[in-house]
Amino acid sequence: MLNFHYSIPTEIFFGKNQIEVLGTEIKKYGSKVLLTYGGGSIKKTGLYDKIVQILKDQNIEFRELGGIDPNPRIDSVREGIQICKDSGIDFILAVGGGSTIDCSKAIAAGYFYDGDPWDLVIGKATIKKALPLGTVLTIAATGSEMDSAAVITNPETNQKLVFGHPAMAPEFSILDPTYTFTVPAKQTAAGVVDIMSHTFESYFTRTKGAYLPDRLAEAILKTCINYGQLAVTEPENYEARANLMWASSLAINGLLGYGKDAIWSVHPIEHELSAYYDITHGIGLAILTPPWMEYVLDDERVDKFVEYGVNVWDIDQNQDKYAIAHEAIDKTKQYFASLGMPLTLKEVGIGEDNLEKMAKAAVDHNNGTVGNFKPLSYEDVLNIYKKAL
Ligand code: NZQ
Ligand code: ZN
Repeated sequence: MLNFHYSIPTEIFFGKNQIEVLGTEIKKYGSKVLLTYGGGSIKKTGLYDKIVQILKDQNIEFRELGGIDPNPRIDSVREGIQICKDSGIDFILAVGGGSTIDCSKAIAAGYFYDGDPWDLVIGKATIKKALPLGTVLTIAATGSEMDSAAVITNPETNQKLVFGHPAMAPEFSILDPTYTFTVPAKQTAAGVVDIMSHTFESYFTRTKGAYLPDRLAEAILKTCINYGQLAVTEPENYEARANLMWASSLAINGLLGYGKDAIWSVHPIEHELSAYYDITHGIGLAILTPPWMEYVLDDERVDKFVEYGVNVWDIDQNQDKYAIAHEAIDKTKQYFASLGMPLTLKEVGIGEDNLEKMAKAAVDHNNGTVGNFKPLSYEDVLNIYKKAL
């Protein structure tokens, strides 16, 4: 186990009716709010009306930025910053999923930067501080509600990049699993795959002796496997939605990575897919994860796959290591298929056209090598895309 500094500052209010704390929580940080949301699901579900009522009842002034797209665009960030500057906003309330929350984090950081906020995303300028932000989560997936990262897309340059700063972590997040009852099956499934992928990124490392983080990771994977299908087939199953919602936050808030040397592999490869083709992040991960696993499986890494197969999939350990590893990968693939996820690039309309460009971008955006479980070169990334066709 490696040294670490534990710091997970976001307060979580978890469970039914926790929205009751919203007014009191906002008033700790500000008095003029920018309310951000996506394409309108919160209006359909009635959550928008509920939140607006709370803000009015508590005499909290607010402005709005709606219409934030999945895979949020830098243009929405620019628009949000302008509203904040014009209206003297001192707090941002993001109501939605990872896209709305990420866009809001970028607005919060961009507010204190005089240039174009894209400079912050590409690392041309450094983030010094951010407006305080709170979230009301409506989909279990990215964990953005409890981490300090954001992923923003620039369609003009075909770039979808991760950036972050401790100041971008939400001050608080309200996690009411009933708000996720209306998430469509496809998005529910994509969210489950995303949670599993975040867990894999911290689990599949070469750090030795990180027994506790690895068991925590396995518990999250088992939770996803246990409840994923249930949430798809019974969208109003509270137990399933609640377990997945908490798994979403725990998979990426830092907990699983503490004590481990984890440089992520599949996420950087997926981000190029959504940058070029605007596909749903979790779907891209479902397509790429099994080929990545097969590609990196070798003598140096096989024991980790055995650990995964035996502890997560309950595969009989009294057999050849590679047989266990292949069965574990196969079970992962079958599980994604059982959730209704596509498993090939062709199924989502992606052919060979941009594979080379995407592979080059993936390594360029990651200082020449992707991941460190097995460090991946340009050729490796290209081979993984080809295996996923
Ligand atoms: O936009 P609305 O109308 O709200 O509809 C959304 C959207 O169409 C819908 N939805 C959300 N909650 C709903 C609902 N529909 C009905 N009922 C509800 N309760 O679901 C669709 C997807 O929403 P989105 O916010 O895009 O999903 P997600 O949370 O998966 O976020 C994806 C984005 O987060 C990034 C991804 O790359 C992608 O851009 N990520 C952010 C991370 C982070 N900040 O740490 C890490 C992740 O690995 C990921 O890269
Ligand atoms: Zn993800």
